[in-house]
Amino acid sequence: MTSAASKTENLPRHIAIIMDGNGRWAKKRFLPRVAGHSAGVEAARQIVKLCAKKKIQVLSLFAFSSENWNRPAHEVNHLMELFLTGLEREVTLLHENNIQLRFIGDRVRFSEKLRQKILEVETLTQHNSGLVLMIAADYGGQWDICQAARQLANEVETGQLHSEDITPEKIAAKLAFADLPHPDLFIRTSGELRISNFMLWQLAYAELYFTDTLWPDFDEKALEKALAHYASRERRYGNLTEKEKESACSHNA
Ligand code: IPE
Ligand code: IPE
Ligand code: MG
Repeated sequence: MTSAASKTENLPRHIAIIMDGNGRWAKKRFLPRVAGHSAGVEAARQIVKLCAKKKIQVLSLFAFSSENWNRPAHEVNHLMELFLTGLEREVTLLHENNIQLRFIGDRVRFSEKLRQKILEVETLTQHNSGLVLMIAADYGGQWDICQAARQLANEVETGQLHSEDITPEKIAAKLAFADLPHPDLFIRTSGELRISNFMLWQLAYAELYFTDTLWPDFDEKALEKALAHYASRERRYGNLTEKEKESACSHNA
């Protein structure tokens, strides 16, 4: 197999993206920040389309962090409105394309209307077998670990579990998407080199990819570039590569 062919086949099962830089994209164009968020929705549509076409199993998009509530009320309101209209506008197309929509995060601070809409689209698409599109909204990695810890503490309190039986696997089973593979490829746009409380537990062995491109400019070509980068990386999970093992053995022989 040529190296080019093997590279295209080495696709991540799960891609997790921090879609950052909407505000700066707008600022560069002398537009209000909210215009950047609208442009960001368009970019997200293109990326979803490409991931579905490439048969990626899971795409997670960080849409709103637990900390984003601290932004000015008009920006928060605009983002909430975008979620609602975006869902209303896109749900049919997503469903027709066999995409399963899931939301992860704490829903309690969303309006009743948004909560209803989320439930509606999740129910409608729950049996779809194509791309799982996971929207992280009012999500924080610390929140996720905390809610898992609370569930385990409850089991200890009610005598179903002994504290000494708590293992990484038991914690992982209580996290937000325990039935799906953890991200293989993490992408953050806009040049920031941080995780900003995204999937803290699940990113343990993800390949990290940072690009200066602002999210509204992150197009199909930009994703292809990230995928090519991923394909060329060697994942080790704390072990050695097969080649290194062979060479270590021959040295010891
Ligand atoms: C990311 O873009 C979208 C959300 C956080 C909702 P930003 O709004 O953070 O854009 P910058 O980082 O200010 O450019
Ligand atoms: C992270 O981006 C959250 C989302 C993209 C939804 P932020 O722009 O909120 O993160 P910081 O403030 O740069 O860490
Ligand atoms: Mg930002």
